[in-house]
Amino acid sequence: MAEIGKDISKAKYLLKQGKLVAIPTETVYGLAGNAFDSDAIASIFSTKNRPSFDPLIVHVAGYGHALKLTKNVPEFAENLAAKYWPGPLTLLLKRKKNIPDLVTSGLDTVGIRMPHHSLTRKLLNSIDFPLVAPSANPFGYVSPTTPHHVADQLGDKIDYILDGGDCAIGIESTIVGFENDQVTVHRLGGISVDDIEQVVGPVKVNTYSSSNPQAPGMLQNHYSPTKPIILGDIKKLIEENRDKKIGVLSYYENHHQGLERVLAPDEDLNTAAKNLFAHLRWLDNQPIELIIAEEVPAKGLGLAINDRLKRAATKKN
Ligand code: TXA
Ligand code: MG
Repeated sequence: MAEIGKDISKAKYLLKQGKLVAIPTETVYGLAGNAFDSDAIASIFSTKNRPSFDPLIVHVAGYGHALKLTKNVPEFAENLAAKYWPGPLTLLLKRKKNIPDLVTSGLDTVGIRMPHHSLTRKLLNSIDFPLVAPSANPFGYVSPTTPHHVADQLGDKIDYILDGGDCAIGIESTIVGFENDQVTVHRLGGISVDDIEQVVGPVKVNTYSSSNPQAPGMLQNHYSPTKPIILGDIKKLIEENRDKKIGVLSYYENHHQGLERVLAPDEDLNTAAKNLFAHLRWLDNQPIELIIAEEVPAKGLGLAINDRLKRAATKKN
């Protein structure tokens, strides 16, 4: 079983040897490996059971490090990095040849982000290579927001989980690309579209990509618990499913249905984002047949939360 601890030297030692270490970020826990080590990258794909067409995000200690891996950085990207790095923002930039093809699945862009978590920033500052880190969950499942979520699913496959506590934001980074001088949001995440638009003006949002899994919006049934989940009017759905064992995931109101989790009793979307994946996991582990959930207000972080809920509710083929 993986050890859970706060020992940066140990994490550094393992990473240098080509091993994988789970790392905390402000969004979700990542499964990290040396971005220049092809064997480490290959073992990330196999540990997560992730298809090789799905590229990885490179995590760097500072803007200067991002420049060493990329070229022709547009001014919009520079401005976004200046405002939101370190933070939950991934930029898709033209890559230099020093990044292994395996990282980008052969694309000519690389996703780069500078995470905001003191332990991981210390770790990145102590090594001389960047870290590739997808969310530390089996492919397609709910992302982990505590060290124990990682241990539950990948604990027998990795040596060490760097314990940074609960993730402060709780949903993944926002992914932004700059194709043909157009700023496009490819994945809704921890920085809202409004926040992006404050810096670069109106953007395109293009996150539905089930027909093109190379795009970062990802497969439609991502973030899925193993239990089926239905989204809609909770009171109505509870009535309609009286004969089933149900679990309920509500925004702020408690319906007193026993196996219920409330995302944000304070009606704050930041609280809802922080709780989303932990609550989905908890419900998924209960003796129920069905999860009933509702969308949250479609503004700010709410758009990213609803995106996760809708994908989780998409039936698997
Ligand atoms: O918040 C986050 O971004 C977390 C933490 C650990 O940093 N990481 C994360 O990684 O969510 P992952 O691998 O679970 O999701 C990354 C997404 C994938 O859907 C992938 O398709 C997309 O980013 N992506 C990465 N590089 C890309 C590229 N060059 N072009 C298009 N999409 C890319
Ligand atoms: Mg993921």
